[in-house]
Amino acid sequence: MVRILLGSITIALLSTHLHAADLEAGKELYSNNCAQCHGPTAKGMASFPALAGRDASYLQSRLETYRAGERVGANSGLMIPNARNLSDEDIANLSGFISQL
Ligand code: HEC
Repeated sequence: MVRILLGSITIALLSTHLHAADLEAGKELYSNNCAQCHGPTAKGMASFPALAGRDASYLQSRLETYRAGERVGANSGLMIPNARNLSDEDIANLSGFISQL
């Protein structure tokens, strides 16, 4: 238990300093906050774009743009509220996880 806790703290510190993605944290965030629109494997659904196959750097830059409240497409209004509360670390973790799908 202590080892798991220390492991998580180490990963959190690494993510903050090096932006190394914590893929487990990214997966959890994705399942809870993104999958309902982008689909369980990020292949997209209806007007919700596919994310799978995108580079982590592309995903990261898009999420930062939405977080800043800037529109990039016709449906940005649906996406901006979902990026508003993401930390730099969340974005790195999400981008790392999604880019592996
Ligand atoms: C309410 C539905 C909804 C939810 C929930 C949602 N998204 Fe989106 N997302 C969209 C829509 C719609 C777009 C296209 C927006 C546009 O036209 O600019 C989009 C676009 C994106 C893009 C840009 C895709 C591209 O091809 O440029 C990324 C990256 C993204 N979402 C990631 C996420 C992540 C990560 C989460 C969870 C934190 C999330 N989304 C949650 C609806 C959603």
